[in-house]
Amino acid sequence: MESALEQEPRKLKGLLLAGGKGTRLRPFTYTGAKQLVALANRPILFHAIDQLTTCGITELGIVVGETKEEVMAAVGDGSQFGAKITFIEQSAPLGIAHAVKIAEDFIGSDPFVLFLGDNILKEGIGRYVEQFQTGCHNGLVLLYPVDEPQNFGVAELDGDKLIRVVEKPRDPPSNMAVIGIYFFDSTVFDAIRRVKPSARGELEITDTIQRLIDDGLDVRAEVISGRWIDTGKHDDLLEANHLLLEDLEPELAGRHDDASTIQGRVVLQEGSEVINSRIQGPVIIGERTRVVNSFIGPFTSINHDCLIADTEISGSVVLEHTTIEQVDGRIEHSLIGRNVELRGHQRRPHGYELILGDFSKLRTP
Ligand code: DAU
Repeated sequence: MESALEQEPRKLKGLLLAGGKGTRLRPFTYTGAKQLVALANRPILFHAIDQLTTCGITELGIVVGETKEEVMAAVGDGSQFGAKITFIEQSAPLGIAHAVKIAEDFIGSDPFVLFLGDNILKEGIGRYVEQFQTGCHNGLVLLYPVDEPQNFGVAELDGDKLIRVVEKPRDPPSNMAVIGIYFFDSTVFDAIRRVKPSARGELEITDTIQRLIDDGLDVRAEVISGRWIDTGKHDDLLEANHLLLEDLEPELAGRHDDASTIQGRVVLQEGSEVINSRIQGPVIIGERTRVVNSFIGPFTSINHDCLIADTEISGSVVLEHTTIEQVDGRIEHSLIGRNVELRGHQRRPHGYELILGDFSKLRTP
């Protein structure tokens, strides 16, 4: 007969990765961690933490790399999330499986969820947490069908059985990408010890999963139903911002004057001000940001302490402390960083005076 203890669901820890280089997101990542770029005015990493805490997973480890100071300052001790946080320093981005390996002391013998800090999911992970807690699998990977599987870890399935995983294959065996949310028990550490660095010099999580499969351990796969985005590139960031704003809960904590129109799902965060402007949601305007004589169109996030004046902007993300004034024509599908100044004027001749950093882009749609 099973004891009461054996029937208890296994309590999971969470391991989030916030190291790595972020070269594909330059210029933003010259001055900051990619996981701290704010979408819907909240760092991407915070959305990942929310995913875990809403499932009751509150004992979290965060692997940090060269941007550790910034990540640690933003996350703090975890009390803002109702979580207990342990930071684990990775000396260099030597691979996802390497990041797991150095977290062994933190994980101990507990099962855990590994969550890549740049992944955004539309649906919650509650049912997979429950499935892993109550089942006795050694691993569970989540899959999502994609158009370009060669950019991801790819799964080969035999029915619903996972038989092979390959990292960024030239000739993908299926269109099922392995997304950056994995469940493991502590057998994973033994598998990692037997994995060799790949051609790109990293200890790959896909090779680790393959080891578990080859060892005859029980690794399951589930295809997720909601949207998934790996925010590796600029377009992905805008798409993920769009996805998050679809679920925006309207809240007008800021102020708007009578000459302004607020339509659709709009959040005006504390201390924000909208003067003589039209806001067409879903839109979020950050703390202490001022919008004057402007139009802010759907799926736009303007972060805190910005000034938007005499400007039209739509489908875009504007990070904190940025000023945009009198820009001619509508700004669309744009990502604008922190402390940026974009100032036009109505006079002729129109011209440009530019100070754009490396990898910046200025183009017409
Ligand atoms: O997003 C899903 C994909 O993530 C999977 O399909 C791939 O199988 C998996 O290898 C991974 O591929 P990426 O090439 O996108 O991984 P990336 O190097 O971008 O790292 C993912 C996250 O993990 C990112 O937030 C940085 C962090 N990281 C990465 C490495 C290599 C670390 O913290 N330390 C590391 O050593």
